[in-house]
Amino acid sequence: MKKILVTGGLGYIGSHTAVALQEAGYEVVIIDDLSNSELFVLDRITEITGTKPEFHQIDLKDSEKVKAFFDGNQIDGVIHFAAHKAVGESVQKPLMYFKNNLLSLLNVLEQMQERSLDNFIFSSSCTVYGQADEMPINEKAPIKKAESPYAKTKQMGDEILEDFVSAYSKNAISLRYFNPVGAHPSALIGELPKGVPNNLVPFVTQTAAGVRDYLSIFGNDYPTRDGTAIRDYIYVCDLADAHVKALTRLIEKKNKSGLEIFNLGTGIGSTVLEVVKSFEEVNNLKLNYKLVDRRAGDIVEAYSDNELAEKELGWKPETSLEESMRTAWEWQKGL
Ligand code: WQD
Repeated sequence: MKKILVTGGLGYIGSHTAVALQEAGYEVVIIDDLSNSELFVLDRITEITGTKPEFHQIDLKDSEKVKAFFDGNQIDGVIHFAAHKAVGESVQKPLMYFKNNLLSLLNVLEQMQERSLDNFIFSSSCTVYGQADEMPINEKAPIKKAESPYAKTKQMGDEILEDFVSAYSKNAISLRYFNPVGAHPSALIGELPKGVPNNLVPFVTQTAAGVRDYLSIFGNDYPTRDGTAIRDYIYVCDLADAHVKALTRLIEKKNKSGLEIFNLGTGIGSTVLEVVKSFEEVNNLKLNYKLVDRRAGDIVEAYSDNELAEKELGWKPETSLEESMRTAWEWQKGL
């Protein structure tokens, strides 16, 4: 059985991917520093699949600990989620973001290079495109100067990987997510933001649960069909499925030479108001929201051209926005 390291595997997308990997017949070992995740997620993964992943609480910035881990584990592939990911926080604490996100990545890559390990998948983001000139956004869209240190660490991660692949002839794929949303159908795992959520959907579900008084909708004066900004909301389990397909592609050496990059979205843009209305309708409730000023740094519109991922990975996102909103609410109600 192939053994796959999932860094950040107790986090939102990491935990859903760990479940999908186990269900696809892979052995999963998780490294997480618990800085933005909870240990109970390990039991929930076990409850869903019946198999408890091996778990190590390691700070990937500690190169000695990372080396010791690889000394003790024969790894057939790595999916690297571990990173800080709050855009606003990264503007306040750039050094923390550069150090954590880049040093963690470099420590893992160094071990792979020294031990001739292969098959690396990087959790990247559509944020690298900034406000793209054309919609939908494909992988050839120009990379624009990132607006936040968080986004810069994703751009730099992709660049580091390009040289890692060519210098050491490694197999690697970078997956650029649009906006991950929703929760596993079991409602046992989902998005667990610490403190006040940055992202839209956890704020929506917390407002519906009465944890927040109201949702602030950041800007209704954008040049869009209803004035609110457009994003591509991709169901987290569809995203997890893409990771399994990408990993299998690498393990079976079906990838093309060089760093392969895939945009992962539904290909459908939804406005903030459409997300709110979808959430209200599918869950039969009214959400308390206010229209307020734009949030600094936000782009107007982003949605994916996912043709390359469909063609090369054989991946097709099937889940509707409504179903994502239903699962998000089921998860929130269980918290
Ligand atoms: C979506 C839309 C907001 C909150 C970022 C990163 C991306 C990825 C996902 C980590 C925007 C609006 C939001 C709220 C609102 N990062 N909004 N009220 O900014 O598209 O992407 O998070 O995984 O890399 O760039 O996601 O969910 O913050 O915002 O009106 O309380 O919802 O203005 O239009 P974003 P988001």
